[in-house]
Amino acid sequence: MIQTILEKLEINDLNIGINSALSKQKDILWHDVLPSFNPATKECIANVRTAGQDALQSVIQQSLTAFQHWRMIPGPKRGECIRLIGEELRKHKDSLGTLISLETGKIKSEGDGEVQEMIDMADFTVGQSRMLYGKTMHSERPHHRMYEQWHPLGPIGIITAFNFPVAVWAWNAFIAAICGNTVIWKPSSKTPLCAIAVQKICERVMQKAGYPNIFSLFVPKDDALVMAFVADQRIPLISFTGSVSIGRKVNAIVTQRLGKTLLELSGNNAIIVDETANLSLALRAIVFGAIGTAGQRCTTTRRLFIHYTQYDELTTQLVRIYKHIRIGDPLDINTMMGPLIDETAINNYLSALDAVQQVGGKIIYGGKLLSKKGYFVEPTLVKAKNHWDIVQQETFAPILYLIPYRHLEQAIYQQNAVPQGLSSALFTQNLLHAEQFLAATGSDCGIANINIGTSGAEIGGAFGGEKETGGGREAGSDSWKAYMRRQTNTINWGDSLPLAQGIQFQID
Ligand code: UN1
Repeated sequence: MIQTILEKLEINDLNIGINSALSKQKDILWHDVLPSFNPATKECIANVRTAGQDALQSVIQQSLTAFQHWRMIPGPKRGECIRLIGEELRKHKDSLGTLISLETGKIKSEGDGEVQEMIDMADFTVGQSRMLYGKTMHSERPHHRMYEQWHPLGPIGIITAFNFPVAVWAWNAFIAAICGNTVIWKPSSKTPLCAIAVQKICERVMQKAGYPNIFSLFVPKDDALVMAFVADQRIPLISFTGSVSIGRKVNAIVTQRLGKTLLELSGNNAIIVDETANLSLALRAIVFGAIGTAGQRCTTTRRLFIHYTQYDELTTQLVRIYKHIRIGDPLDINTMMGPLIDETAINNYLSALDAVQQVGGKIIYGGKLLSKKGYFVEPTLVKAKNHWDIVQQETFAPILYLIPYRHLEQAIYQQNAVPQGLSSALFTQNLLHAEQFLAATGSDCGIANINIGTSGAEIGGAFGGEKETGGGREAGSDSWKAYMRRQTNTINWGDSLPLAQGIQFQID
């Protein structure tokens, strides 16, 4: 199976912890292999060669060289390259979707959806490549013109997580590219194959179109090398997706050298279901939000605030649905939930359930490991209290905490009373409740939805969140500005030199 997929994706060499061209260089020293596992079977599906310090230096140098050329190519031409990559992704959607499913354990439909998210990003950035708008201003001085323009930054470092091994890269990389930057990608050590597949696609397209290869891959031999990458002055922006603890470290290192960061860290997302909510809509959103990607999305629904009048009915319905969730082979189209990513994820699931029960949490459904070969667990419902330590944390597992409430103000207050601030949703048919939720005194999250779940955001909006989520915004809207530097230009086309603020200054 894996062999056929790799062939379809034209991957015939796993000796590439970095760009193909560089990997052929004789003087590159290769280090230990990184095994890639299928979490549904625990089998090793490939071994990827990792790169060391010398390879990192070559990658950065090559990326800088490509940047000198790429930044002078007109934006719309850069957009055309991404259009071609989008076309290639369309061709490979099925096989890449399968590879994502094999390496992450997410169900095939979500694997394909992830490739679609890349394609959507490609389409979006083609248009954006013609819209890197700057403003013009009226100068206070006669015969002066003022405007601003946006220039690229340089090689952009993109560090991605296992749960969205390629789409989050595309959010960053495609925008970075149309803005005139080059890209160096450090993928999750759990999903190197997906990264290699995408790297190969990009290399082929760029080569065929006659452009320099602006996309680089870097699979490091150890974590120390990742920190060397993050610390490198030549990389003006590091976009990091992952945990709060590593995000803090990355931020400290980059801030210390006065570089820029884009952080997309943990979420602890909640849905509120009020007394007027349409329960059948809410149920679909809650279940997809809680068990999609086996609860391993940043946007996963982890807390559910239910108006006390709906509590019994909603809980009964949830248990009924949870009993029928088909768990198993992610590539079987009938499967609704695949495995967790690895042993550590299993332990985190078990210890979160232990912790919540110790403080009085009651498991309503699930809570056990499944006796299957892979890392399978039961999706779990727990009656809990919002202020409990474990409920305040993001556990990357399909655990949903149910919390009854009486007044909407109280539910909104509790929803906000966690360290994270990524995504939130209210199910209601009451217009006033909806507005209350979206007002400045409502949800404090980067994403706030009405009658839509917390996960599955479209790429057209800016994606990201507040507080410990890190404050970054990626993908749509005007997120492109984070990948460029703004320059204010004032042009004097007169024959005198009036000073601003009316200052008089004579030199003779
Ligand atoms: C993530 O979990 O890091 O909104 C990204 C969503 C997806 C992206 C999730 N479009 O659920």
